[in-house]
Amino acid sequence: MDALSRDFFLFLSKNRGLNFMAKRWGKSLATGNIIGGIDFESCIPHIEQLNKKGIQVTVDHLGEFVMDETVARERTQECIRTIQTIATNTIQTQVSVKLTSLGLDISQDLARENMQKILEVASKHQVLVTIDMENESRCEATLELFRELKEQYDLVGTVIQAYLYRSEEDLAQLDDLSPFIRLVKGAYKESAQVAHTEKADIRENFKQLIKRQLNSGHYTAVATHDDYMVDFTKEYVRSQGIPKDQFEFQMLYGMRTKTQQELKDEGYNVRIYMPYGDDWYGYFMRRLAEKPSNISFALKGLTKK
Ligand code: FDA
Repeated sequence: MDALSRDFFLFLSKNRGLNFMAKRWGKSLATGNIIGGIDFESCIPHIEQLNKKGIQVTVDHLGEFVMDETVARERTQECIRTIQTIATNTIQTQVSVKLTSLGLDISQDLARENMQKILEVASKHQVLVTIDMENESRCEATLELFRELKEQYDLVGTVIQAYLYRSEEDLAQLDDLSPFIRLVKGAYKESAQVAHTEKADIRENFKQLIKRQLNSGHYTAVATHDDYMVDFTKEYVRSQGIPKDQFEFQMLYGMRTKTQQELKDEGYNVRIYMPYGDDWYGYFMRRLAEKPSNISFALKGLTKK
């Protein structure tokens, strides 16, 4: 049943018609508990609240699979505006971006040009930008661009997904860049030709990646809501004497808030990924695929107006 509902929500996540309609209801959902707001300004009070508790943030302007160059350039400007706003406030937040939102599906050159514009401003204001990892068919291009950009700019990181067979090799290939890497399980529907599909195998690979990345000494984010992975990480760093300032736990905004605070209180660095904007549909469907009970967050949002 779990696998069935996962496939169903991942199938819905790619439906353009539903995505279009969802934008019209965006305001209602955006006032909810899993999205920071309809625009970056609405996120600021939520970021301040988290920062007060000692929790850091990374914000993501929702939107992906852009096929119109004008829209890709608008998304780039939105990201730049966000970085500039961060710089003029006292909030502690980084930025996450999806390359398909900046035009990767139009051309790699366009995505590169847009990322360079973003990273110029991010370098000036010392804001780290993490490139999210999308589905497997975009992985090669994403890692290629990440390498090029990381050779030019220090403050850029990316994501490696534990469900992909290729990930251990990818991590090894990136090692010379001393990269900041967020490790995740992986959120898209992938075939067994390229990805583990069994929960136990994904966890096992996740553990290998965590060990490898932490042993390399590079700053690492372990992004998961899974107690099993959190406990594994805690035990591993304890046994290896890896300092708490070499890594952080990351969770999604609105998920496992009690656990987030407990980790912070235990002295771990914690960062929350806070999406914003009206293009929430694909993001939300992937969250439902992971845990159908996440719908209760949205319903709370819809009734909170
Ligand atoms: P998973 O969903 O596998 O759940 C495992 C167990 O954790 C559950 O059985 C339950 O016990 C517990 N649990 C999970 N959610 C819970 C909840 N809400 N409340 C209570 N218990 C819960 N993916 C991607 O492909 N590219 C990316 O760039 C990113 N970026 C990203 C950033 C951040 C900060 C996070 C946290 C995640 C991502 N992801 C991602 C998503 C990631 O790949 C993955 O799909 C989700 O994190 C779900 O996997 P988990 O490891 O969190 O637990």
